[in-house]
Amino acid sequence: MQNLQGKHILLGVCGGVAAYKMANVASALHKAGAKVSVIMTENATQFITPLTFEAITNHPCIVDTFTREFPHDITHISLAKTADLILVAPATANVIAKLAHGIADDMLTTVLLASRCKKLIAPAMNTAMLESPVTQDNLKILEKYGACIIAPASGLLACKDIGSGKLPEPKVLIDYIMRELAREKTLAGTRVTITAGPTRESLDPVRYLTNHSSGRMGYAIAREAMLRGAEVILISGPVALDPVPFVQIQQVITAQHMMQAVQKVLPATDILIKAAAVADYRPISISDHKIKKMEGDQQITLERTDDILGWVARNRRQGQFVCGFSMETQDMMANSAAKLDRKKLDMIVANNLKVEGAGFGVDTNVVTIITRDGAVELPLMRKDEVAGKLLDMIEQRFQIKKDNENKI
Ligand code: CTP
Repeated sequence: MQNLQGKHILLGVCGGVAAYKMANVASALHKAGAKVSVIMTENATQFITPLTFEAITNHPCIVDTFTREFPHDITHISLAKTADLILVAPATANVIAKLAHGIADDMLTTVLLASRCKKLIAPAMNTAMLESPVTQDNLKILEKYGACIIAPASGLLACKDIGSGKLPEPKVLIDYIMRELAREKTLAGTRVTITAGPTRESLDPVRYLTNHSSGRMGYAIAREAMLRGAEVILISGPVALDPVPFVQIQQVITAQHMMQAVQKVLPATDILIKAAAVADYRPISISDHKIKKMEGDQQITLERTDDILGWVARNRRQGQFVCGFSMETQDMMANSAAKLDRKKLDMIVANNLKVEGAGFGVDTNVVTIITRDGAVELPLMRKDEVAGKLLDMIEQRFQIKKDNENKI
């Protein structure tokens, strides 16, 4: 989990059955290094005790507006001033209504009124209460005042109704917090397209040709770019990975599909990172029926797929930054430098499949980042760390490129 060291997160827990889920949220944030302060409404204490949050966060959990926990401070003002973010979850219809209309009649609503930081509101209630026009209007008012409303999940509710109104799982709530706090927004306003995973080329309705790419490197880059505030499109071959939150994922199967997807998004892309392992060949034809076995050997005739980066080199517009990947098993530096030139790239990330800890299907990688100015060899790292280093270097060069173009 990303580091939240130095961040102060305030959790506002209201009186809904889902209040128990907030123990997991508090625990995950505390483990990520954040200072977590929990404020509960009186009603919330019917569902989960303040002691649970105190034990998890190592901080007093506050219910009473006139608490004497911090005798030298005006507690509600000091909490409001020091919080980097407030998540109200589960947010009941009653608390949402109070927040929308500036009513501050308990500690939670008072702190929210006094705070200037980003507020995330996760409504959780019965479907009829959620869909009632007054709740919908109140949510719109909160949005107008700058709060981010986290869409409730659908399913079986505590009241046995089935519908919208469930509090999303802790992982989803934490994704929202991470997006706000985990990184400086160094890529805000930048459109980043990433390709990831393998492609798959059918032979018949049963069989296909592919490679061992798991997509982990490309997905890690997509996540890192999203955390840095970029608008991210992830063009993904078939992989067994969870989607990256807040990233637009376009699923593709073949090299041709990937080519079409890249062609469509390239004009509106600022930075293109091609981490996908694209098939260079496909069967010259796809049999309509399963190919039956016969006596003797069988041969498959293959034809070349389009080189997507080759097309990008011919069609990219000025100012775009293009980074390729190069997977080799021998002569890594020479082959990768040749690809940098041939494909007119700004950068290429080279890795040697024969090096321990590098390549497909593992959580680590050993890469060398090559540009026209030279090469930077990185040690064995987790793929999310490689993604961070890679984006640091891209950001720096993308800026230099932009500055140079502005001078012309
Ligand atoms: N690539 C591409 N289109 C292809 C094949 C590869 O855009 N049809 C991209 C990959 O996404 C990667 C880069 O080209 O960013 C290098 O891929 P790689 O397979 O290492 O190199 P190739 O150019 O295909 O050369 P070779 O297979 O001969 O090593």
